[in-house]
Amino acid sequence: MAFSSQFLDELIARNDIVDVVSDYVQLTKKSGSNMFGLCPFHSEKTPSFSVSQSKQIYHCFGCGKGGSVINFIMEIENLSFPDAVAFLARRVNMQVPDDDTPAETRSRRARMLELNKDAARFFYNVLSTNEGKVAVEYINRRGISRQSVINFGLGMAPNSWTALTDAMIKKGYSPGELLDAGLIKRGKGGSYYDTFRNRLMFPVIDVRGSVIGFSGRILDDGEPKYLNSPDTLVFSKQRNLFGLNLAKRTKMNMLILVEGNVDVVALHQAGFDCAVASLGTSLTPDQARLMSRYTENIVIAYDSDGAGKKATERAIGILDKVGLNVKVLRMSGAKDPDEFIKAKGADAFRTLLERSENHIEYRLLTALGKYDIETDEGRLGYLSEATSLLSELENAIEREIYSARVAETAKISVEAVKNEVRKAYARRQAARRKQKERENMRPAISAQPKEKSLRYENVSSATAEEGVIRLLMLDPTLASLTGELKIEDFSSPFLAKLYEMVQERCADGRSMSLAILTSELPPEEASHLTEIMQKPENMQEREKAMSDYIEKIKTEKLKKISKDNLLAVQEKLKEKKGYGG
Ligand code: UTP
Ligand code: MN
Repeated sequence: MAFSSQFLDELIARNDIVDVVSDYVQLTKKSGSNMFGLCPFHSEKTPSFSVSQSKQIYHCFGCGKGGSVINFIMEIENLSFPDAVAFLARRVNMQVPDDDTPAETRSRRARMLELNKDAARFFYNVLSTNEGKVAVEYINRRGISRQSVINFGLGMAPNSWTALTDAMIKKGYSPGELLDAGLIKRGKGGSYYDTFRNRLMFPVIDVRGSVIGFSGRILDDGEPKYLNSPDTLVFSKQRNLFGLNLAKRTKMNMLILVEGNVDVVALHQAGFDCAVASLGTSLTPDQARLMSRYTENIVIAYDSDGAGKKATERAIGILDKVGLNVKVLRMSGAKDPDEFIKAKGADAFRTLLERSENHIEYRLLTALGKYDIETDEGRLGYLSEATSLLSELENAIEREIYSARVAETAKISVEAVKNEVRKAYARRQAARRKQKERENMRPAISAQPKEKSLRYENVSSATAEEGVIRLLMLDPTLASLTGELKIEDFSSPFLAKLYEMVQERCADGRSMSLAILTSELPPEEASHLTEIMQKPENMQEREKAMSDYIEKIKTEKLKKISKDNLLAVQEKLKEKKGYGG
C-alpha cells in the first residue's frame, strides 16, 4: 500500500496525536514536553507511556511500543495499515486516495462479491418454490422463524447437480468465476457440478455487509453435516465470524461465542442478538482480535460435551491474550444453546448468562473436577493447582476473594490458602524482577530490539549504525559526512533498510519526521525506530559523533571479514589434512 507522502503528511498533521491518544488513554502533563499515561498495550500501575506533541509520536518506556498516530491506531484498533489510514481519514473528513491493489484484483473481488450476492438471492428464492418445501419444513421443524430466515438471508441449495450453475450462467457469470468463488467443482471430462446440494444455506456476511461465502447444512442425514465455502479471494474462515454482521449492532455489552450456526440463529431469535460462531474451525487469534474491535466482554457458550469443554479452555487462552474479559456459560441438560433454549426457554438462558462464571471461577471448577477432594491426595492436588491459578491474578482483591472460596471448597483454613497463594505470587514476581535485572545488567541484551526477528548479530556495530540513523534524522545536513558509509557496511539488515530510507529522504529533501517514517514501517519496526530515537545524542559534537560511529562500523566490518577469512583458511587446512589421511 503506497499512499503519497503528501497525503500521509496531511493525515498526520490533521490527526494530532495527543487528541487521538486521549480518546483511549488519560494523559497528564508532566515536567518536560511529554504527556504521560498508563500504557494501553501492557498492564502497569505507574505511567510509562509517553506522547510527544512536538514530535507527534508515542513511546512506552515499559513495553517499548511506539510510533506515529497511524501505528497507534493500527495497534489499538487492530487494523491493517490501509484500514488505520482510512480510520484516521474518516475522523477528520479526509478523502482517501484509491488504494493501489491492482485494478484487476479489485474488479475480480467486486465481481465475486456480486456473484455471492446473486447466489444468496437464488438460494433464498428457492424457499418459495416447490423444490424448497423440504427446506421450509426443516426450518419449521427446527423452530426457525420467518423473520430469522430474512435476517440471516437463509436459503436452500436444491437437490440438483447444476441448479445454481445454470442460474448463474444465465446471469452472465462464467464457470471460471463460479469455480473461483467455490460455488462449483470440476467433475470428470470438463464438466462442473454445484458444490452445495440439498442443503440449508447460511450466507456468511462480513461486517461491511458483503456476502463472502456460505455454510450449508445437509437436509437429510448425509455427510458432511456442514459444508463451508473454501477460502477464496474474498473469504477467509480464520478471519471471519458467522453472525458478526448482525451482532456488531447489539445493545448488549458483550458478544456470546457459540459453536454452531444454528445456535447463532436460535440465540438471535430469542433476543440474544450478540451471538457469533467461528466458521467450522477452532477459534483463531484473528477472530479474537476481530471481536475485540466490538466489545470488551466475551461469554463462551460452547457445546456442553467433552469437545466443547476442551475448545473452551483453548478459547479462554486466545481471548485472554488479546485483553478481552472472558466468562464461561455452563449449560446442563442440553447439548448446545439451540437445544437449551428449545427445552427451557429464553429466560432460563438469560439466567445462565447472568450466572456465567469469569474464567478464574471456571478454571477453579474445572480443576476441582479432576480430583477427589475427599482424599488427602486429591485435596493436595486440587490445592496446588488452585493456588497456582490464583497466583496469576494481578488484582489483590481477586486473589483474596478466590482464596476464600478455594479454602471453603477444600475445607482448609483461609490463612493457609492465602499463604500458599502469597508464596506462589511472590515467586512469580521474583522471577519477573530477575528477568528485568538480567536485561539491565547486560547492556548488550537491552540494546537488542524487543522484536526477535530484528535481533542484532553484532551489537557493537548495530549500536553505531543506530547512531548514524539517529544523527541523520536529527540533522539531515550530516549526510554530507556519510560518503564512505555504504549499505553493505551495515551488520543489521533492518538498520541497513532504515539507512537507505533516510538517505533517500536526505537526498531529495523530503520531510524527515519520525511520525512519517514510522508510518511506513510495520508495527515492530516502527516501535524499534522510535526506541532508537529515544537514546540521547550529543548534538554539540555531532560531526565528531558521526565520524566515530562510521569508524566503529568500518572496524567491525573489517573484523568480520578477517574472521571469515580465517575460518575459510582453517576449513582449507582441515580439508588438506583429510586428504593426507
Ligand atoms: P455441530 O456438529 O455441533 O452442529 O457443529 P450443530 O450446530 O449443533 O448442528 P445442528 O444443530 O445439528 O444443525 C457446530 C459447527 O461446526 C461446524 C459448523 O460450523 C457447525 O455450525 N461443522 C460441523 C463443520 O464445519 N462441518 C461439520 O461437518 C460439522
Ligand atoms: Mn445443534
